[in-house]
Amino acid sequence: MSGWLDRQFGLTGRTALVTGARTGIGRDAALALAEAGADLVLWGREETGLAEVAAQARARGVRVETMGVDMSDLDAVRQAARQVATTTVDILVNNAGTIRRAPVVDTTTEQWRQVMTVNLDAVFELTRTLATPMIARGLGTVVNIASLLSFQGGLNVSAYTASKHAIAGLTRAMANEWAARGINVNAVAPGYIETSNTEALRADPVRSSQILARIPAGRWGRPDDVAGGVVFLCSPAARYIHGHVLVIDGGWMSW
Ligand SMILES: NC(=O)c1ccc[n+]([C@@H]2O[C@H](COP(=O)([O-])OP(=O)(O)OC[C@H]3O[C@@H](n4cnc5c(N)ncnc54)[C@H](OP(=O)(O)O)[C@@H]3O)[C@@H](O)[C@H]2O)c1
Repeated sequence: MSGWLDRQFGLTGRTALVTGARTGIGRDAALALAEAGADLVLWGREETGLAEVAAQARARGVRVETMGVDMSDLDAVRQAARQVATTTVDILVNNAGTIRRAPVVDTTTEQWRQVMTVNLDAVFELTRTLATPMIARGLGTVVNIASLLSFQGGLNVSAYTASKHAIAGLTRAMANEWAARGINVNAVAPGYIETSNTEALRADPVRSSQILARIPAGRWGRPDDVAGGVVFLCSPAARYIHGHVLVIDGGWMSW
């Protein structure tokens, strides 16, 4: 990289915590952050599942730690967050997320609570714990993973939609509080990406072709289509961007 590119987009010397790093968007975002030079703290539901992505990141020459944290258990999230907050984490990518597909009347309270806990409550708990030392240092970056369902209602995914609308609001609320303290809070809103999150949609020939027909780019997204946006929002080049939700959707929202 040239000196200018490196100063704008390089992350050497920074440490990034990525949740849900074992698969999909989190995995590709973590590896892209490593390519940009960031050391990593990778979270997954079980630590053993992170070995492969951790090895791939280390092969890029960065330091990597792994932690198993079940984000549906808020006590576990708080405890792990307090542990990580004693080290220096400059970048937090709140990526872990879950989805339950059922009509509103068939969605159980337990399903509702599980989605809201992982997708929203855990993000609140982890972010506020890590933000405290970031504010003290006057430097930090948070990137939340929102969704097109931060803007639209979706079909048969009420808890997911509610949680992702809330993530967009929380992104703006935190950005307003912390912008003057040297903390950037933004979000990425991926469109329809080929990961296990969309497996059921892609397996349904009707829904799958309806969705594809509405994507101007003419294809589903891939995790690495999203990773560059995450790296950009984590980079020094994004230092004056606060409370933005960056849509990466092959043009879906412009349709
Ligand atoms: N794919 C899309 O089209 C799309 C679109 C918009 C937004 N998103 C968002 O993108 C993010 C990543 O999803 P993805 O599409 O990459 O799907 P994915 O491959 O299923 O990844 C989801 C990740 O979340 C983690 N996770 C789920 N429940 C957890 C729990 N209880 N505790 C700890 N970790 C948990 C999983 O960790 P383990 O593997 O360790 O279980 C997994 O790595 C999510 O926030 C999702 O809502 C996806």
